[in-house]
Amino acid sequence: MPAPMITEKTLQGIHVSSKDNSSSSPKRLEGKVAIVTGGARGIGEATVRLFARHGAKVVIGDVEDAMGIMLANSLAPSVTFVHCDVSLEEDIKNLINSTVSHYGRLDILFNNAGVLGNQSKHKSIIDFDADEFDRVMRVNVKGAALGMKHAARVMMPRGTGCIISTASVAAVMGGLGPHAYTASKHAIVGLTKNTACELGRYGIRVNCISPFGVATNMLVNAWRSCEDVEECMDMASPCDEEVEKMEEFVRSLANLKGQTLRAKDIAEAALYLASDESKYVSGHNLVVDGGVTISRNCVGL
Ligand SMILES: NC(=O)c1ccc[n+]([C@@H]2O[C@H](COP(=O)([O-])OP(=O)(O)OC[C@H]3O[C@@H](n4cnc5c(N)ncnc54)[C@H](O)[C@@H]3O)[C@@H](O)[C@H]2O)c1
Repeated sequence: MPAPMITEKTLQGIHVSSKDNSSSSPKRLEGKVAIVTGGARGIGEATVRLFARHGAKVVIGDVEDAMGIMLANSLAPSVTFVHCDVSLEEDIKNLINSTVSHYGRLDILFNNAGVLGNQSKHKSIIDFDADEFDRVMRVNVKGAALGMKHAARVMMPRGTGCIISTASVAAVMGGLGPHAYTASKHAIVGLTKNTACELGRYGIRVNCISPFGVATNMLVNAWRSCEDVEECMDMASPCDEEVEKMEEFVRSLANLKGQTLRAKDIAEAALYLASDESKYVSGHNLVVDGGVTISRNCVGL
């Protein structure tokens, strides 16, 4: 049975956070309707907040119901929540259809939901675990492809639309993530290029974003000394100390010094790709890594 949609009406009267909705800067997504998968926390949450601040109606699709509903409530009525496991076609179909039936159209899909898989257990290719590989590919690749399929279905008749997916620096070079994750993120870049090629004639732009390390649950949990990844993922959000330690670690690996990459920076990249400022950008992988993937300073520059 499709999950019920929490509509603007359901959420009316709930406190709207002034922090997330007041801005004197021009609104770059005024009147647009966007879906953000994996929008309950991390990079997705930062994007939901930024898109809403820029005038978009945003629907969060996530498996984390409590977190997603709490976020939607805090940003109502611009933001709503629909339960969606991106690896299930019925869920994706419901997410897109309920958005279109509520708002009349879909302008932007941000395919952001993703999982890292187990960082410690299956590190060597010798220990390759086919079930683990399937699990990661199901969410990261099948989920993104299903999102593209159902978004394209409703965007094509309107002759316009924008699809963005979150890839990773692990989609650009080796040695930046587990094997399954790296394969899945390379696949997102391939899917982006191929769908951009097909959908350009319908006025639909398709792009992806490749972030370097952001101290979200995903990254912090990956470095916790936890044997069981599922158990790890259920652990509470990282505390400030863990976030600071992770940010320090990422800064130590970074090429560009003097800055810390945060979820908001990836949201800004998504805002650019979602807005009319990028109207002629399609098939692009926007790498947000401070130059990590283009630099190997072998000659002591
Ligand atoms: N954090 C990083 O350093 C980093 C770097 C590169 C790429 N990314 C990518 O960014 C995206 C967001 O990750 P994050 O760092 O914010 O991690 P996160 O774990 O904080 O957030 C991921 C979100 O996706 C949701 N999700 C997971 N499986 C899902 C499913 N099957 N259906 C629907 N929602 C699901 C989770 O509930 C969560 O809300 C992912 O695609 C990740 O691979 C992250």
